[in-house]
Amino acid sequence: MHRSRDLGGIAFLDLRDRLGLVQVSFDPKFASPDVIAGAQAAGLESTVIIEGTVSLRPVEMRNSDMATGEVEVKATSIRVVGPAVTPAIPVARGKGAQLPAEELRLKHRLLDLRRPELQANLMLRHRLLQRARSSMTGMGFFEIETPILTKPTPEGARDFLVPSRVHAGEFYALPQSPQIYKQMLMVAGFDRYFQIARCFRDEDLRADRQLEFTQIDLEMSFIEQRDVQRVVEQVLVDLWAEAGESVSAPFLRMKWHDAMEKYGVDKPDLRYASLQLSDVTAHVGDDAASFVRDAITAGGRVRALKLANAADMSRKEIDVMAAAAKDAKAGGLIWAKRTEAGWEGQGVKAIGASALEKIGGAVGDLLLAVSGPDHVTSPALHNVRMLAIKRPNVEVEAKHAFCWIVDFPLFEPDAETGARVFAHHPFTSPHPDDRAFLETEPDRCRALHYDAVYNGNELGSGSIRIIDPALQSTVFKLLGISDADQQKRFGFMLDGLAAGAPPHGGFALGFDRIAMLLAGSSSLRDVIAFPKTTAARALFEGAPTPIAAPDLKALHIAPIAD
Ligand code: AMO
Repeated sequence: MHRSRDLGGIAFLDLRDRLGLVQVSFDPKFASPDVIAGAQAAGLESTVIIEGTVSLRPVEMRNSDMATGEVEVKATSIRVVGPAVTPAIPVARGKGAQLPAEELRLKHRLLDLRRPELQANLMLRHRLLQRARSSMTGMGFFEIETPILTKPTPEGARDFLVPSRVHAGEFYALPQSPQIYKQMLMVAGFDRYFQIARCFRDEDLRADRQLEFTQIDLEMSFIEQRDVQRVVEQVLVDLWAEAGESVSAPFLRMKWHDAMEKYGVDKPDLRYASLQLSDVTAHVGDDAASFVRDAITAGGRVRALKLANAADMSRKEIDVMAAAAKDAKAGGLIWAKRTEAGWEGQGVKAIGASALEKIGGAVGDLLLAVSGPDHVTSPALHNVRMLAIKRPNVEVEAKHAFCWIVDFPLFEPDAETGARVFAHHPFTSPHPDDRAFLETEPDRCRALHYDAVYNGNELGSGSIRIIDPALQSTVFKLLGISDADQQKRFGFMLDGLAAGAPPHGGFALGFDRIAMLLAGSSSLRDVIAFPKTTAARALFEGAPTPIAAPDLKALHIAPIAD
């Protein structure tokens, strides 16, 4: 029972199921007084079974805003089979009414799930899943399920561990991805695998990350990266079509280095492709401030984003942009406005009038710049660019901007420790052109790793894999994994590769992200039936929970006092 009202002795209620609403009338001409009283007494959100006749509404009562607005059910009986207590959060909302706070909605998730918006999202998710399956199957892929209780698979996050009751002190890991298994399936001869795979990663949550999530995971043998990309393009074109959006392949391809140079990020939002960063270091002269000259002397650069018709930007807005640059560890944001009288603003002192003259620009331009090493200027100017594209009157150049980012570095420094870590995962093949200096200059080495990006979102990642066990072992070593550790952690895989591995590669699409984007939402929680909060809690059922001492003991776990 979605809504009810009384009009001149006739009770009306809107009955809701997953397909929509229909109006039911309880008219004394058709329903007994007991039936009418029963309808009036039933609480909203109760589950009812109603008998009656579907009839055309009187002309003046027809409602063109409602799919079933021409008809109503003239009820003759009502049975309240599932009476509802007063709902903790309303399901029916007036137009424009605000949603209750998300935490409250997650706690009362099943009421929230009754909301037509979430019903539509989960139905869309269902259709997308079916479409992904038929698309993959149509291209000759086999769906094979891989284990959930596994040995750790490194994907850069922490593992969720499951203690073994039978083997004291030993643990299974929940898979961060089916990565190793799918590679082993290639060696086993299933040359086109896919799976709608659940993955588990104990990482800090954001709107686009959950502890458990779903991938459309695939792997293929005897292929090159373009072959994998063609398959992924087809799946994406099909998924977008399922959501009513026509998009075309092939997608643009961009080298990682170019993406970082032009957009400061490896997942550029190319709906605004011409809004690019530039390197203005060469223009900086002796009249620049010492902090800028020092940054250049230390090997850094001055990079800038020029916004047309933005010279009227308020100080407050510039301050917001500066804060975004500082979030990425920039010392500050340099800015200058081009007016009829020339360049104005603190940037005149910072990068110097001579540099601004060389950079040039039209009246109305706003120049935003950051000095420092690339690992500071790139994320800082990316943050600034993301704010810039949200401004009114910025021209959208495309609705759907898909692209491939290719030629990633094989390794990268860990953001916190600076130690060498893999950029994708340790099974990614080095670029053949860089193979010669893998051991001498590993940090210069590119990888056969590619990402699919859509409107500034990373949809998925993949790579061509290492198939030579000796090369795999070298890469492990460069990551600081000793021979003994390699055997312990990956011995089965190294042996597997030595069983005669076909050349292979693959990809995984983040399915929740795709469903979120196609549902027009900005949170994964809107397309997952029972999601976790950003504080890693399931509020509806209440998880995680403490475990009683005897249960811990059975798992050979002793509680540790803080
Ligand atoms: P990767 O780790 O890049 O690659 O993951 C692939 C895609 O999965 C999605 N994703 C997530 N979605 C929601 N919550 C998360 N915590 C989360 N983490 C990742 C993203 C991401 O692009 N085994 C490799 C793929 C391969 O090489 O074939 C892998 O898992 O959309």
